[in-house]
Amino acid sequence: MERYVIKGGTPLVGEVEISGAKNAALGILAASIMTDETVTIDNIPDVSDINALLQAIEGIGAYVERVDAHTVKINGSGIHDFSLDYEYIKKIRASYYLLGALLGKYKKAEVPLPGGCNIGTRPIDQHLKGFRALGADVRIEYGSISAEASRLEGTHLYFDVVSVGATINVMMAATMAEGTTIMENAAKEPHIVDLANFLNSMGANIKGAGTDVIRIKGVPRLHRAEYTVIPDQIEAGTFMFAAAATKGDVTVKNVIPKHLEAISSKLMEMGCQVEESDDAVRVYCKNKLRNTHIKTLPYPGFPTDMQPQISVVLSLANGTSIVTESIFENRFKYVDELARMGARIKVESNTAIITGVDRLSGAIVSSPDLRAGAALVIAGLAAEGFSVVEDIVYIKRGYERFDEKLRGLGAEIRQVTTDKEIRKFQLMSEAV
Ligand code: UD1
Repeated sequence: MERYVIKGGTPLVGEVEISGAKNAALGILAASIMTDETVTIDNIPDVSDINALLQAIEGIGAYVERVDAHTVKINGSGIHDFSLDYEYIKKIRASYYLLGALLGKYKKAEVPLPGGCNIGTRPIDQHLKGFRALGADVRIEYGSISAEASRLEGTHLYFDVVSVGATINVMMAATMAEGTTIMENAAKEPHIVDLANFLNSMGANIKGAGTDVIRIKGVPRLHRAEYTVIPDQIEAGTFMFAAAATKGDVTVKNVIPKHLEAISSKLMEMGCQVEESDDAVRVYCKNKLRNTHIKTLPYPGFPTDMQPQISVVLSLANGTSIVTESIFENRFKYVDELARMGARIKVESNTAIITGVDRLSGAIVSSPDLRAGAALVIAGLAAEGFSVVEDIVYIKRGYERFDEKLRGLGAEIRQVTTDKEIRKFQLMSEAV
Protein backbone atom coordinates (compact mmCIF):
# COMPACT_ATOMS: atom_id res chain seq x y z
CA MET A 1 0.00 0.00 0.00
CA GLU A 2 1.32 3.44 -0.93
CA ARG A 3 1.76 5.75 2.04
CA TYR A 4 3.42 9.02 2.88
CA VAL A 5 5.92 9.06 5.68
CA ILE A 6 6.53 12.50 7.11
CA LYS A 7 8.91 14.02 9.61
CA GLY A 8 7.09 17.06 10.91
CA GLY A 9 8.18 20.28 12.49
CA THR A 10 9.84 22.04 9.54
CA PRO A 11 8.22 25.34 8.49
CA LEU A 12 7.40 25.25 4.77
CA VAL A 13 9.27 27.98 2.93
CA GLY A 14 9.48 28.85 -0.75
CA GLU A 15 7.40 28.96 -3.91
CA VAL A 16 5.08 26.34 -5.33
CA GLU A 17 3.53 26.19 -8.80
CA ILE A 18 -0.19 25.36 -8.73
CA SER A 19 -1.60 22.91 -11.30
CA GLY A 20 -4.77 23.24 -13.37
CA ALA A 21 -8.09 22.91 -11.57
CA LYS A 22 -9.19 19.29 -11.39
CA ASN A 23 -12.88 20.10 -11.03
CA ALA A 24 -12.82 22.55 -13.95
CA ALA A 25 -10.94 20.07 -16.12
CA LEU A 26 -13.49 17.31 -15.40
CA GLY A 27 -16.35 19.40 -16.80
CA ILE A 28 -14.32 20.71 -19.71
CA LEU A 29 -13.05 17.27 -20.77
CA ALA A 30 -16.59 15.87 -20.73
CA ALA A 31 -17.82 18.84 -22.77
CA SER A 32 -15.00 18.29 -25.31
CA ILE A 33 -16.92 15.40 -26.85
CA MET A 34 -19.77 17.75 -27.83
CA THR A 35 -18.17 18.67 -31.15
CA ASP A 36 -17.03 16.37 -33.96
CA GLU A 37 -13.97 18.58 -34.42
CA THR A 38 -10.75 18.24 -32.44
CA VAL A 39 -10.43 20.07 -29.15
CA THR A 40 -7.11 20.71 -27.40
CA ILE A 41 -7.15 21.22 -23.64
CA ASP A 42 -4.07 22.50 -21.84
CA ASN A 43 -3.16 22.83 -18.13
CA ILE A 44 -5.04 19.70 -17.12
CA PRO A 45 -3.65 18.39 -13.83
CA ASP A 46 -1.86 15.05 -13.98
CA VAL A 47 -4.00 13.33 -11.34
CA SER A 48 -5.79 10.00 -11.29
CA ASP A 49 -9.35 11.44 -11.46
CA ILE A 50 -8.51 13.11 -14.78
CA ASN A 51 -6.93 9.94 -16.16
CA ALA A 52 -10.03 7.97 -15.15
CA LEU A 53 -12.36 10.40 -16.93
CA LEU A 54 -10.20 10.29 -20.06
CA GLN A 55 -10.54 6.49 -20.02
CA ALA A 56 -14.32 6.85 -19.76
CA ILE A 57 -14.30 9.25 -22.72
CA GLU A 58 -12.24 6.75 -24.72
CA GLY A 59 -14.60 4.02 -23.57
CA ILE A 60 -17.54 5.57 -25.44
CA GLY A 61 -15.51 5.76 -28.65
CA ALA A 62 -13.96 9.25 -28.61
CA TYR A 63 -10.36 9.66 -29.74
CA VAL A 64 -8.11 10.80 -26.88
CA GLU A 65 -4.48 11.74 -27.42
CA ARG A 66 -2.42 12.67 -24.39
CA VAL A 67 0.02 15.12 -25.97
CA ASP A 68 1.91 15.48 -22.69
CA ALA A 69 1.16 15.25 -18.96
CA HIS A 70 -0.90 18.47 -19.07
CA THR A 71 -2.30 18.57 -22.61
CA VAL A 72 -4.85 16.39 -24.30
CA LYS A 73 -6.55 16.35 -27.70
CA ILE A 74 -10.05 14.92 -27.91
CA ASN A 75 -12.14 14.17 -30.96
CA GLY A 76 -15.71 13.04 -30.37
CA SER A 77 -16.66 12.25 -33.97
CA GLY A 78 -16.23 8.50 -33.50
CA ILE A 79 -18.55 8.14 -30.51
CA HIS A 80 -20.59 5.01 -31.01
CA ASP A 81 -21.71 4.22 -27.51
CA PHE A 82 -24.14 6.47 -25.62
CA SER A 83 -24.02 4.22 -22.60
CA LEU A 84 -21.22 4.42 -20.04
CA ASP A 85 -19.94 1.28 -18.30
CA TYR A 86 -20.29 0.97 -14.54
CA GLU A 87 -16.52 0.53 -14.11
CA TYR A 88 -16.00 4.21 -15.05
CA ILE A 89 -18.58 5.73 -12.73
CA LYS A 90 -17.10 3.61 -9.93
CA LYS A 91 -13.66 5.12 -10.57
CA ILE A 92 -14.75 8.69 -11.13
CA ARG A 93 -18.12 10.01 -10.06
CA ALA A 94 -17.79 13.04 -12.34
CA SER A 95 -18.02 10.80 -15.40
CA TYR A 96 -21.75 11.47 -14.94
CA TYR A 97 -20.99 14.76 -16.74
CA LEU A 98 -21.10 12.63 -19.88
CA LEU A 99 -24.83 12.43 -19.32
CA GLY A 100 -25.31 16.15 -20.03
CA ALA A 101 -22.70 16.17 -22.79
CA LEU A 102 -24.12 13.14 -24.66
CA LEU A 103 -27.72 14.21 -24.13
CA GLY A 104 -26.95 17.68 -25.53
CA LYS A 105 -25.11 16.36 -28.57
CA TYR A 106 -26.94 13.11 -29.41
CA LYS A 107 -30.20 13.61 -27.42
CA LYS A 108 -29.55 10.24 -25.85
CA ALA A 109 -27.39 9.02 -22.96
CA GLU A 110 -27.19 6.33 -20.34
CA VAL A 111 -24.94 6.45 -17.29
CA PRO A 112 -24.91 4.17 -14.24
CA LEU A 113 -26.35 5.92 -11.21
CA PRO A 114 -23.46 7.15 -9.07
CA GLY A 115 -23.89 6.03 -5.49
CA GLY A 116 -22.98 8.02 -2.41
CA CYS A 117 -19.34 8.43 -1.54
CA ASN A 118 -17.12 8.88 1.49
CA ILE A 119 -18.32 12.41 2.14
CA GLY A 120 -22.06 11.91 1.85
CA THR A 121 -25.09 10.53 0.04
CA ARG A 122 -24.86 12.95 -2.91
CA PRO A 123 -28.29 12.91 -4.58
CA ILE A 124 -28.59 13.96 -8.24
CA ASP A 125 -32.25 14.94 -8.34
CA GLN A 126 -31.41 18.48 -9.54
CA HIS A 127 -29.51 17.15 -12.57
CA LEU A 128 -32.52 15.02 -13.51
CA LYS A 129 -34.94 17.87 -12.87
CA GLY A 130 -32.94 20.00 -15.32
CA PHE A 131 -32.84 17.34 -18.04
CA ARG A 132 -36.59 16.75 -17.67
CA ALA A 133 -37.27 20.50 -17.86
CA LEU A 134 -35.41 20.51 -21.19
CA GLY A 135 -37.86 17.88 -22.46
CA ALA A 136 -35.88 14.70 -21.92
CA ASP A 137 -37.52 11.50 -20.84
CA VAL A 138 -35.39 10.51 -17.84
CA ARG A 139 -35.64 7.06 -16.27
CA ILE A 140 -33.82 5.26 -13.53
CA GLU A 141 -33.85 1.55 -14.26
CA TYR A 142 -31.51 -1.34 -13.51
CA GLY A 143 -29.10 0.96 -11.66
CA SER A 144 -28.70 3.39 -14.56
CA ILE A 145 -30.05 6.76 -15.56
CA SER A 146 -31.19 6.96 -19.13
CA ALA A 147 -32.16 10.25 -20.73
CA GLU A 148 -33.58 10.61 -24.20
CA ALA A 149 -35.38 13.29 -26.19
CA SER A 150 -36.54 13.70 -29.76
CA ARG A 151 -35.60 17.36 -29.26
CA LEU A 152 -34.40 19.40 -26.31
CA GLU A 153 -36.15 22.70 -25.79
CA GLY A 154 -34.96 25.76 -23.84
CA THR A 155 -36.65 26.24 -20.49
CA HIS A 156 -36.82 28.44 -17.39
CA LEU A 157 -35.43 26.41 -14.54
CA TYR A 158 -35.05 27.12 -10.80
CA PHE A 159 -32.66 24.81 -8.92
CA ASP A 160 -33.91 23.89 -5.43
CA VAL A 161 -30.35 23.63 -4.11
CA VAL A 162 -27.17 25.26 -5.36
CA SER A 163 -25.36 22.41 -7.06
CA VAL A 164 -22.08 22.59 -8.95
CA GLY A 165 -22.68 19.26 -10.67
CA ALA A 166 -26.28 20.01 -11.71
CA THR A 167 -25.31 23.44 -13.03
CA ILE A 168 -22.55 21.85 -15.13
CA ASN A 169 -24.60 18.92 -16.39
CA VAL A 170 -27.68 20.96 -17.33
CA MET A 171 -25.53 23.74 -18.84
CA MET A 172 -24.01 21.22 -21.25
CA ALA A 173 -27.35 19.77 -22.31
CA ALA A 174 -28.94 23.24 -22.69
CA THR A 175 -26.02 24.43 -24.86
CA MET A 176 -27.38 22.32 -27.72
CA ALA A 177 -31.11 22.67 -26.98
CA GLU A 178 -33.45 24.68 -29.21
CA GLY A 179 -34.19 28.15 -27.83
CA THR A 180 -33.15 29.83 -24.59
CA THR A 181 -32.64 28.25 -21.20
CA ILE A 182 -32.53 30.33 -18.03
CA MET A 183 -31.06 28.56 -15.00
CA GLU A 184 -31.78 30.32 -11.70
CA ASN A 185 -30.08 29.58 -8.37
CA ALA A 186 -27.11 28.26 -10.36
CA ALA A 187 -23.74 27.54 -8.72
CA LYS A 188 -21.14 30.33 -9.10
CA GLU A 189 -17.88 28.42 -8.60
CA PRO A 190 -14.90 29.46 -10.75
CA HIS A 191 -15.07 26.15 -12.59
CA ILE A 192 -18.65 26.91 -13.70
CA VAL A 193 -17.30 30.08 -15.31
CA ASP A 194 -14.40 28.15 -16.81
CA LEU A 195 -16.71 25.56 -18.37
CA ALA A 196 -18.98 28.30 -19.76
CA ASN A 197 -15.93 30.09 -21.24
CA PHE A 198 -14.79 26.84 -22.80
CA LEU A 199 -18.23 26.06 -24.28
CA ASN A 200 -18.41 29.65 -25.61
CA SER A 201 -15.00 29.17 -27.22
CA MET A 202 -16.57 26.19 -29.06
CA GLY A 203 -19.42 28.40 -30.31
CA ALA A 204 -21.94 28.16 -27.47
CA ASN A 205 -23.89 31.20 -26.32
CA ILE A 206 -23.80 31.24 -22.50
CA LYS A 207 -24.13 34.42 -20.45
CA GLY A 208 -24.15 35.08 -16.72
CA ALA A 209 -21.88 32.24 -15.55
CA GLY A 210 -20.43 33.31 -12.19
CA THR A 211 -23.79 34.80 -11.15
CA ASP A 212 -26.79 32.80 -9.99
CA VAL A 213 -28.71 33.33 -13.24
CA ILE A 214 -27.21 31.72 -16.34
CA ARG A 215 -28.77 32.31 -19.78
CA ILE A 216 -28.03 29.84 -22.54
CA LYS A 217 -29.12 30.31 -26.15
CA GLY A 218 -28.96 26.89 -27.72
CA VAL A 219 -26.84 26.34 -30.82
CA PRO A 220 -27.12 23.42 -33.28
CA ARG A 221 -23.43 22.60 -33.31
CA LEU A 222 -20.12 23.33 -31.63
CA HIS A 223 -16.69 23.59 -33.23
CA ARG A 224 -13.01 23.04 -32.53
CA ALA A 225 -11.27 24.95 -29.75
CA GLU A 226 -8.03 25.26 -27.84
CA TYR A 227 -8.43 26.02 -24.18
CA THR A 228 -6.36 26.40 -21.01
CA VAL A 229 -7.90 25.27 -17.71
CA ILE A 230 -7.83 27.73 -14.75
CA PRO A 231 -5.54 27.09 -11.76
CA ASP A 232 -6.80 24.90 -8.94
CA GLN A 233 -7.94 27.07 -6.05
CA ILE A 234 -8.31 24.08 -3.73
CA GLU A 235 -4.75 22.93 -4.34
CA ALA A 236 -3.58 26.53 -3.80
CA GLY A 237 -5.60 26.82 -0.59
CA THR A 238 -4.16 23.53 0.67
CA PHE A 239 -0.61 24.89 0.35
CA MET A 240 -1.69 28.18 1.98
CA PHE A 241 -3.02 26.30 5.00
CA ALA A 242 0.09 24.09 5.06
CA ALA A 243 2.13 27.31 5.32
CA ALA A 244 -0.04 28.47 8.23
CA ALA A 245 0.03 25.16 10.10
CA THR A 246 3.84 24.91 9.89
CA LYS A 247 4.42 28.66 10.61
CA GLY A 248 6.06 28.94 7.22
CA ASP A 249 6.33 31.40 4.35
CA VAL A 250 4.92 30.07 1.09
CA THR A 251 4.10 31.76 -2.21
CA VAL A 252 1.56 29.91 -4.34
CA LYS A 253 2.22 30.78 -7.97
CA ASN A 254 0.06 30.57 -11.10
CA VAL A 255 -3.16 31.29 -9.19
CA ILE A 256 -6.10 33.68 -9.57
CA PRO A 257 -6.04 35.52 -6.19
CA LYS A 258 -9.72 36.49 -6.51
CA HIS A 259 -10.65 32.78 -6.35
CA LEU A 260 -8.75 32.49 -3.06
CA GLU A 261 -10.39 35.35 -1.18
CA ALA A 262 -12.43 33.18 1.21
CA ILE A 263 -9.21 31.40 2.17
CA SER A 264 -7.01 34.51 2.34
CA SER A 265 -9.48 36.38 4.54
CA LYS A 266 -9.69 33.51 7.04
CA LEU A 267 -5.88 33.31 7.19
CA MET A 268 -5.73 37.04 7.93
CA GLU A 269 -8.39 36.69 10.64
CA MET A 270 -6.19 34.02 12.21
CA GLY A 271 -3.22 36.39 12.24
CA CYS A 272 -1.28 35.38 9.11
CA GLN A 273 0.08 37.87 6.61
CA VAL A 274 -1.29 37.44 3.09
CA GLU A 275 0.18 39.35 0.15
CA GLU A 276 -1.47 39.17 -3.26
CA SER A 277 0.10 39.97 -6.60
CA ASP A 278 -1.22 39.42 -10.14
CA ASP A 279 -0.93 35.65 -10.22
CA ALA A 280 0.55 34.72 -6.85
CA VAL A 281 -0.33 34.82 -3.17
CA ARG A 282 2.24 34.78 -0.36
CA VAL A 283 1.24 33.50 3.08
CA TYR A 284 3.48 33.84 6.12
CA CYS A 285 2.61 33.23 9.70
CA LYS A 286 4.98 33.84 12.57
CA ASN A 287 2.90 34.21 15.70
CA LYS A 288 0.51 31.84 17.41
CA LEU A 289 -2.67 31.76 15.34
CA ARG A 290 -6.02 33.07 16.58
CA ASN A 291 -9.26 31.04 16.58
CA THR A 292 -12.05 31.75 14.11
CA HIS A 293 -15.36 30.28 13.04
CA ILE A 294 -16.09 28.69 9.67
CA LYS A 295 -19.26 27.75 7.85
CA THR A 296 -18.89 26.01 4.51
CA LEU A 297 -21.04 27.51 1.77
CA PRO A 298 -21.30 27.53 -2.02
CA TYR A 299 -18.87 29.94 -3.74
CA PRO A 300 -18.00 32.70 -2.88
CA GLY A 301 -18.43 31.29 0.64
CA PHE A 302 -15.82 29.17 2.37
CA PRO A 303 -15.40 25.95 0.31
CA THR A 304 -16.33 22.59 1.80
CA ASP A 305 -13.27 21.21 -0.01
CA MET A 306 -11.07 23.30 2.32
CA GLN A 307 -12.87 22.41 5.55
CA PRO A 308 -10.58 19.56 6.70
CA GLN A 309 -7.43 21.57 5.94
CA ILE A 310 -8.52 24.65 7.91
CA SER A 311 -9.62 22.44 10.79
CA VAL A 312 -6.02 21.21 11.09
CA VAL A 313 -4.79 24.81 11.27
CA LEU A 314 -7.46 25.69 13.85
CA SER A 315 -6.34 22.69 15.93
CA LEU A 316 -3.11 24.60 16.47
CA ALA A 317 -4.68 28.04 17.06
CA ASN A 318 -5.43 29.80 20.34
CA GLY A 319 -8.91 29.34 21.76
CA THR A 320 -11.99 27.53 20.53
CA SER A 321 -13.16 27.52 16.91
CA ILE A 322 -16.46 26.30 15.52
CA VAL A 323 -16.55 24.72 12.08
CA THR A 324 -19.98 24.13 10.54
CA GLU A 325 -20.21 21.87 7.50
CA SER A 326 -23.35 22.80 5.59
CA ILE A 327 -22.75 21.06 2.24
CA PHE A 328 -21.96 17.37 2.89
CA GLU A 329 -23.15 15.41 5.92
CA ASN A 330 -20.19 13.09 6.30
CA ARG A 331 -17.17 15.31 6.10
CA PHE A 332 -15.73 14.97 9.60
CA LYS A 333 -14.45 11.42 9.22
CA TYR A 334 -10.85 12.60 9.57
CA VAL A 335 -11.48 14.02 13.04
CA ASP A 336 -10.83 10.72 14.82
CA GLU A 337 -7.51 10.42 12.99
CA LEU A 338 -6.57 13.99 13.91
CA ALA A 339 -7.48 13.29 17.53
CA ARG A 340 -4.90 10.49 17.47
CA MET A 341 -2.33 13.19 16.72
CA GLY A 342 -3.40 15.15 19.79
CA ALA A 343 -6.05 17.48 18.35
CA ARG A 344 -9.01 18.34 20.59
CA ILE A 345 -12.10 18.23 18.41
CA LYS A 346 -15.64 17.35 19.31
CA VAL A 347 -18.16 16.75 16.54
CA GLU A 348 -21.84 17.31 17.13
CA SER A 349 -23.99 16.72 14.07
CA ASN A 350 -22.60 19.02 11.35
CA THR A 351 -20.44 21.07 13.70
CA ALA A 352 -16.92 20.55 14.93
CA ILE A 353 -15.81 22.34 18.08
CA ILE A 354 -12.05 22.67 18.00
CA THR A 355 -10.03 23.64 21.05
CA GLY A 356 -6.55 24.66 19.96
CA VAL A 357 -3.55 22.76 21.35
CA ASP A 358 0.11 23.82 21.49
CA ARG A 359 1.35 20.92 19.45
CA LEU A 360 0.34 17.84 17.50
CA SER A 361 2.38 14.65 17.66
CA GLY A 362 3.11 12.25 14.82
CA ALA A 363 1.00 9.11 14.39
CA ILE A 364 -0.08 6.54 11.82
CA VAL A 365 -3.31 7.84 10.28
CA SER A 366 -5.44 6.91 7.33
CA SER A 367 -7.00 9.19 4.68
CA PRO A 368 -10.78 8.86 4.58
CA ASP A 369 -11.14 10.89 1.35
CA LEU A 370 -9.27 13.27 -0.95
CA ARG A 371 -9.31 16.57 0.96
CA ALA A 372 -9.21 14.96 4.40
CA GLY A 373 -6.15 13.03 3.24
CA ALA A 374 -4.42 16.29 2.31
CA ALA A 375 -5.41 17.73 5.70
CA LEU A 376 -3.77 14.79 7.50
CA VAL A 377 -0.59 15.40 5.52
CA ILE A 378 -0.66 19.04 6.71
CA ALA A 379 -1.13 17.76 10.27
CA GLY A 380 1.87 15.44 9.82
CA LEU A 381 3.99 18.33 8.52
CA ALA A 382 3.08 20.45 11.55
CA ALA A 383 3.36 17.66 14.12
CA GLU A 384 6.37 16.72 16.20
CA GLY A 385 7.98 13.47 15.13
CA PHE A 386 7.06 10.99 12.43
CA SER A 387 3.68 10.40 10.85
CA VAL A 388 2.51 7.89 8.29
CA VAL A 389 -0.52 8.80 6.16
CA GLU A 390 -2.12 5.71 4.67
CA ASP A 391 -4.58 5.34 1.78
CA ILE A 392 -2.94 8.12 -0.21
CA VAL A 393 -4.68 6.79 -3.30
CA TYR A 394 -7.39 9.33 -2.37
CA ILE A 395 -4.89 12.19 -2.29
CA LYS A 396 -3.58 11.24 -5.71
CA ARG A 397 -7.05 11.64 -7.18
CA GLY A 398 -6.71 15.40 -6.90
CA TYR A 399 -3.17 16.52 -6.02
CA GLU A 400 -0.46 16.39 -8.64
CA ARG A 401 2.98 15.38 -7.29
CA PHE A 402 1.87 16.41 -3.81
CA ASP A 403 4.91 15.03 -1.98
CA GLU A 404 7.33 16.43 -4.57
CA LYS A 405 5.80 19.92 -4.38
CA LEU A 406 5.97 19.80 -0.57
CA ARG A 407 9.61 18.70 -0.67
CA GLY A 408 10.25 21.76 -2.85
CA LEU A 409 9.12 23.80 0.16
CA GLY A 410 11.49 21.98 2.51
CA ALA A 411 9.10 19.33 3.81
CA GLU A 412 10.46 15.97 4.86
CA ILE A 413 7.99 13.64 3.16
CA ARG A 414 8.40 10.49 1.07
CA GLN A 415 6.05 8.15 -0.69
CA VAL A 416 6.76 4.60 0.45
CA THR A 417 5.17 1.20 0.13
CA THR A 418 6.93 -1.00 2.67
CA ASP A 419 7.60 -0.79 6.41
CA LYS A 420 11.28 -1.19 5.59
CA GLU A 421 11.18 2.03 3.56
CA ILE A 422 9.52 3.81 6.48
CA ARG A 423 12.28 2.68 8.85
CA LYS A 424 14.91 3.78 6.33
CA PHE A 425 13.29 7.23 6.06
CA GLN A 426 13.23 7.52 9.85
CA LEU A 427 16.88 6.51 10.21
CA MET A 428 18.00 8.89 7.47
CA SER A 429 15.97 11.79 8.96
CA GLU A 430 17.32 11.17 12.44
CA ALA A 431 20.86 11.02 11.11
CA VAL A 432 20.55 14.53 9.61
C1 UD1 B 1 -18.65 19.54 -6.50
C2 UD1 B 1 -17.17 19.29 -6.41
C3 UD1 B 1 -16.79 18.90 -5.00
C4 UD1 B 1 -17.28 19.95 -4.01
C5 UD1 B 1 -18.75 20.26 -4.22
C6 UD1 B 1 -19.24 21.42 -3.39
C7 UD1 B 1 -16.61 18.52 -8.62
C8 UD1 B 1 -16.24 17.36 -9.49
N1 UD1 B 1 -16.83 18.22 -7.34
O1 UD1 B 1 -19.32 18.33 -6.18
O2 UD1 B 1 -15.39 18.76 -4.91
O3 UD1 B 1 -17.09 19.49 -2.69
O4 UD1 B 1 -19.00 20.58 -5.60
O5 UD1 B 1 -18.49 22.56 -3.65
O6 UD1 B 1 -16.66 19.65 -9.06
N2 UD1 B 1 -27.36 18.16 -4.11
C9 UD1 B 1 -28.68 17.77 -4.14
N3 UD1 B 1 -29.21 17.36 -5.33
C10 UD1 B 1 -28.48 17.34 -6.49
C11 UD1 B 1 -27.13 17.75 -6.44
C12 UD1 B 1 -26.61 18.16 -5.24
O7 UD1 B 1 -29.37 17.79 -3.12
O8 UD1 B 1 -29.03 16.98 -7.53
C13 UD1 B 1 -26.77 18.63 -2.83
C14 UD1 B 1 -25.58 17.77 -2.37
O9 UD1 B 1 -26.01 16.66 -1.62
C15 UD1 B 1 -24.80 18.76 -1.55
C16 UD1 B 1 -25.03 20.10 -2.27
O10 UD1 B 1 -26.19 19.90 -3.07
O11 UD1 B 1 -25.35 18.87 -0.26
C17 UD1 B 1 -23.89 20.54 -3.15
O12 UD1 B 1 -23.52 19.49 -4.02
P1 UD1 B 1 -22.89 19.79 -5.45
O13 UD1 B 1 -22.58 21.24 -5.57
O14 UD1 B 1 -23.76 19.18 -6.48
O15 UD1 B 1 -21.54 18.98 -5.39
P2 UD1 B 1 -20.87 18.15 -6.54
O16 UD1 B 1 -21.11 18.80 -7.86
O17 UD1 B 1 -21.19 16.72 -6.36
